[in-house]
Amino acid sequence: RKIISCREMQSTQDHAKKLAIQGGSEGTIVVAETQSAGRGRMGRSWASPPGGLYFSVILRPGITLAGAAGLPLVAAVALARAIQPYTAVAPGLKWPNDVLIQKRKAAGILVEMSAEMDRLDWVVIGIGVNVAAASVQLPPEIRRTSTSLAIESTRIVHRAQLLGDILYELEEALDMFQTQGFEPLRKQWKEKSHTLGKHVTVVGSRQSIEGKAVDIDGSGALVMECAGGIRQRVTSGDLFFKG
Ligand code: BTN
Repeated sequence: RKIISCREMQSTQDHAKKLAIQGGSEGTIVVAETQSAGRGRMGRSWASPPGGLYFSVILRPGITLAGAAGLPLVAAVALARAIQPYTAVAPGLKWPNDVLIQKRKAAGILVEMSAEMDRLDWVVIGIGVNVAAASVQLPPEIRRTSTSLAIESTRIVHRAQLLGDILYELEEALDMFQTQGFEPLRKQWKEKSHTLGKHVTVVGSRQSIEGKAVDIDGSGALVMECAGGIRQRVTSGDLFFKG
């Protein structure tokens, strides 16, 4: 597979997307030591100081656009599995795809894709892991809610090894997703959930929904039980725990 590695890049995600549009092959990986314009979900930026792991990978999975809704959760399961051996406490998942350690975010995933009709052309999965950062090196605005492997780890983390571990788990999870569908991954996601059973607010672009997170449905959507016992399916947004 092709690996493009740079000391500094604006965003591995943007670079990988450019390559994907130009026909870059499945499995192409773009990795950088630091990013000057790292991007997060919902139009946010992603702080990318040196010492972290920042990479994006091009995929051309044989699934439909509708099926692709499960991809962020599939990636989160893989990432949690890869990180687990490094941490004293098993990582937990926050819907849709944040990996938490001790309730704080240690890694984020950004999934972007392009489709023609219902056929996926390319998918780029971007992963950022806070590896080396000490608490004071995290940006002040996320210090209380973020952590890093260095803070939580029981052993020294070699980033090349961690990258290999994540790619291995990602390949396993994607294989399973393409051969067996979302169900086994949904089960794994639920086992690692730090979301279900909790009172949450999901802030979407058009509305906010408050209630209890009760399930993940067959497409990766969050099922919430709201006032009056009404069930709502949420397909996107930013989740906050209440209280
Ligand atoms: C999030 O939690 O909001 C997602 C964060 C994704 C960050 C990664 S770092 C590598 C890749 N390049 C980017 O610009 N973003 C992703």
